[in-house]
Amino acid sequence: MTLTNRPRGTNDVGPGEIELWHQLEEKIRQVCSAFGYKELRTPIFEHTELFQRGIGEATDIVEKEMYTFMDRGQRSLTLRPEGTAPLVRAFVENRYGEGALPVKLYYLGPMFRYERPQAGRYRQFTQFGLEALGSADPLLDVEAIVLPLELYKACGLSGFQVEINTIGCPVCRPAYREELVKYFEPHADKLCGSCKNRLERNPLRLLDCKVEGCQEIMAGAPSITKHLCPECEEHFSQVLAYLDALGIEYKLNHRLVRGFDYYTKTVFEVTCSELGAQNAVGAGGRYDGLVEELGGKPTPAVGFAVGVERLLLALRGQEKAKAETAGPDAYIVHFGGETKQRAAQTAFFLRRRGLWVELDYLGRSIKAQMKAADRLGSRHVLIFGEDELSRGEAVLRDMKDGQEQKVDLQDLEQLAKILGECGQ
Ligand code: HAM
Repeated sequence: MTLTNRPRGTNDVGPGEIELWHQLEEKIRQVCSAFGYKELRTPIFEHTELFQRGIGEATDIVEKEMYTFMDRGQRSLTLRPEGTAPLVRAFVENRYGEGALPVKLYYLGPMFRYERPQAGRYRQFTQFGLEALGSADPLLDVEAIVLPLELYKACGLSGFQVEINTIGCPVCRPAYREELVKYFEPHADKLCGSCKNRLERNPLRLLDCKVEGCQEIMAGAPSITKHLCPECEEHFSQVLAYLDALGIEYKLNHRLVRGFDYYTKTVFEVTCSELGAQNAVGAGGRYDGLVEELGGKPTPAVGFAVGVERLLLALRGQEKAKAETAGPDAYIVHFGGETKQRAAQTAFFLRRRGLWVELDYLGRSIKAQMKAADRLGSRHVLIFGEDELSRGEAVLRDMKDGQEQKVDLQDLEQLAKILGECGQ
């Protein structure tokens, strides 16, 4: 560790990159507004118990990946590893469910998981997530899939694939779980260490193992489809019917299970071929029991979360991540002393009109100031020479074609108008 190294699995997002984030954030807000989702900002840390109860004790996240600490008042707190449980906590605490239903909310912010970092997998990462609470309508499952797809499309992303499954509900899942245990038990000695543990604690997660030996055994495992109760079967067939009606392509994957205990019925994942091993650009599902589990009234709900860094990685891979980096509207070149004071007054006036105006703070020569303006990509240079200033004028040079004109410094509104029009 050195003072100048950031912690493993974290990123700095600075100039050249942050513009992409701003563009993406704007697209997120546009798509959410069209679908009627409003933003919710929750704390970055929550009581640890929220995640233990919400995500489930026997999940990788709770067992191995949480950043948990005691505060000075001896409370156990955890940096949020995901956004669904905090949002549900806020839904119950703030009684959002007492207003019009469904409640549609979205969030955008950092999440924290102690995972082994690699391309597309970080210890601090950003999720854009959305949740619809208060309706069991399968159309909302479909909205939760379609909204992120609209975002991907608006960003220009291609080559993504939706995989979908149903994992049943507390009525039909226990029998399926038993079937799975019955199937896997005779193979127990050939399973990897994690799967041996899963067999006892969370057998559904066996289906998700990527270890080759386990996958071979998995091939013969019973499928959930034969164990669904009529309600789950009907729900899933309606979800698929809506997807078909909307022309959304998807792949049925009856091995798709998710790393959270809160899911019921529909689960889905969107992958992008560009991304290699960490290829999920987003995932989600229905969680009809979570609100009640966390102390609220029975409230069906469904949601989705997009990994923002992964989305940007995929866009970069497809050369779709072009930051719009416009330069300043004007750079004021001055000669120090009184010309610098006038330059500052003019800059402040123009900035108040929303124009980006730069000037020299380093006492550089005129030549060096011109070079700095060029390097910043300034559209104009305003030259504040002593002679011109004594006549109340300055020279405005268009950096694209080199054309110059005199501008009247008594009429800064007019100057702002010229610069504003050129910036459009
Ligand atoms: P998740 O699958 O754990 O689901 O995460 C959603 C997305 O966040 C992933 O598909 C991936 O793009 C991104 N992601 C996850 N972990 C990392 C990481 N370590 N580094 C970078 N990106 C990552 C959830 O979190 C659920 N709360 C989704 C949900 C919302 N379900 C219902 N509503």
